[in-house]
Amino acid sequence: MRAVTADTEARTRALGAALGSSAVPGDVLALSGPLGSGKTTFVQGFARGAGFRGAVVSPSFGLARRYRAPTKTIHHLDLYRLADKDLPNLGLEEYFDDPRGVCLVEWPEIAAKALPPDRLEIRFDHAGERRRKLAFRALGGRARRLLRSLET
Ligand SMILES: Nc1ncnc2c1ncn2[C@@H]1O[C@H](COP(=O)(O)OP(=O)(O)O)[C@@H](O)[C@H]1O
Ligand SMILES: [Mg+2]
Repeated sequence: MRAVTADTEARTRALGAALGSSAVPGDVLALSGPLGSGKTTFVQGFARGAGFRGAVVSPSFGLARRYRAPTKTIHHLDLYRLADKDLPNLGLEEYFDDPRGVCLVEWPEIAAKALPPDRLEIRFDHAGERRRKLAFRALGGRARRLLRSLET
């Protein structure tokens, strides 16, 4: 497990951007952590890094938002408002099976069983008013490749 401290919001965005530029279709990132810990901020950086120029907001209405970047489609899912009973009918495969898709999932624990096994887990935590800790865990070869891109 690798952990990074982001002392500023810009640093969180930069970490997202680095992964967003390296991610390839089929990659899945599971972003866990409490409200305000920086998950959506990270996704905003990720979309920029992937070359998406429009606005990236939290998917407060509905489950997902889609951002079309030059070489991939980013699916930003936020499962926060879901209840267990909703899960069988969500059709999350629509996102995970998109051959152009890269999926970023906030509140992944709510649909743990529906997540692809190969995924990069990032745990966000508050470490001060303006400081966040990001802890990375790669589950599978795809996720390891993606995580290695942070090292270069
Ligand atoms: N180092 C940091 N990284 C990310 N966000 C930060 C940081 N410092 C302060 N913030 C603030 O914390 C909030 C994070 O919100 P958001 O990204 O929506 O969190 P989440 O999606 O986890 O609920 C934003 O208001 C952002 O400006
Ligand atoms: Mg959020």
